[in-house]
Amino acid sequence: MSESLYYGSYLHLDKVLAAQHPVSFRPGNEPAHDEMLFISIHQAYEIWFKQILFELDYCLNIFGKEAINDNSEDLNLVRHRLKRIIKILDLLNQQVHVLDTMTPLDFLEFRNLLTPSSGFQSMQFRLIEAKLGLQLEQRHQADYYKRTNEGGFTEKDYNHISSTESSPNLLQRVNNWLERMPFFDTAFWPNCTNSEPENHPFWMAYKEVYVNGLTDREKNKLQDFDQLFFEKGNNTNITQPLFSSAAMRSALFIMLYRDFPVFQTSYQILDALIEIDHLLSTWRHKHLVMVRRMIGMRVGTGNTSGAGYLEGALQKHFVYRDLSGLSTFLIERKKLPHLPETLLAHVGFAPLKK
Ligand code: HEM
Repeated sequence: MSESLYYGSYLHLDKVLAAQHPVSFRPGNEPAHDEMLFISIHQAYEIWFKQILFELDYCLNIFGKEAINDNSEDLNLVRHRLKRIIKILDLLNQQVHVLDTMTPLDFLEFRNLLTPSSGFQSMQFRLIEAKLGLQLEQRHQADYYKRTNEGGFTEKDYNHISSTESSPNLLQRVNNWLERMPFFDTAFWPNCTNSEPENHPFWMAYKEVYVNGLTDREKNKLQDFDQLFFEKGNNTNITQPLFSSAAMRSALFIMLYRDFPVFQTSYQILDALIEIDHLLSTWRHKHLVMVRRMIGMRVGTGNTSGAGYLEGALQKHFVYRDLSGLSTFLIERKKLPHLPETLLAHVGFAPLKK
């Protein structure tokens, strides 16, 4: 008979609960009470990071399929798992408050013992960013990440991060999925013979409503519109988009017609990606505020400039800014162009048979 499962052994609590070893408790050091909290909270973060990576890998696999059936459970599960990541990030943002019960003086009791280790070396945090789509060259002070000397990564961790960065990420895969959406196929649009996107009847009608809704001060948004959705012009005022113009057109279309049941799942997936980006940014902000309180303007144990570096990362490490930026190009619901029956019949539910 196989041995029945036991709570502690199933969860390997012998290992998990034996893994808290404050450096200040070592012989010769002065034990610092709050170092136990400092360790527990980092470990709790890392366990949740592991779960986030597990969910992200699932989503990456689905979007890596050659063809995704929009009516299968696949997309629904992606939505569900992205929403789980959102709940975890919510929790991680709350967790900062537990660490806030440690005062700067409490921290100072063991801080110097931690050098040169730092949260900067959290490989899993880097993997989350990389799998979402943050590329090395988009990072604030990219050279920091290439360090394999003191304060940087071990060679092994660095290689792992680099190989993840060179594998397809979620942004690229979502981009490909969006590019494949058939909404603008000429077959669905009566009298549409021109396959040039900017001459498509939908976009011509849409652009007219959009332009008429802009105030005088906003008229330059038309240039951004043309560049983002049709790659026309070379307006240097806008940040180089990470999504292709074809993907941006589909994403805007989904945002606009989200109230149709058939677009709901796709809409919620895009919305979840935006929210994940925002919650990570909220975490970076809360972490920065906590760091300022703990160490003021001193350099980090990981040898970056400390709060200054974190502020740069906060400003720069958005991944899905193209999607959140779509709000610039929305128009009122009541002014939305009507969709042709041929398209609705293709993407919608079948009518009741008499
Ligand atoms: C007393 C509390 C903390 C202090 C004073 C602190 C300080 C810092 C500093 C100064 C940096 C910049 C790198 C460096 O030079 O060290 C950093 C980065 C980082 N820390 Fe913390 N940290 C604290 C708690 C945490 C916790 C609880 C986590 C949870 C995992 C964490 C995760 C990170 C991560 C992921 C980075 C890299 C951020 C990025 O590159 O955007 N830190 N931390």
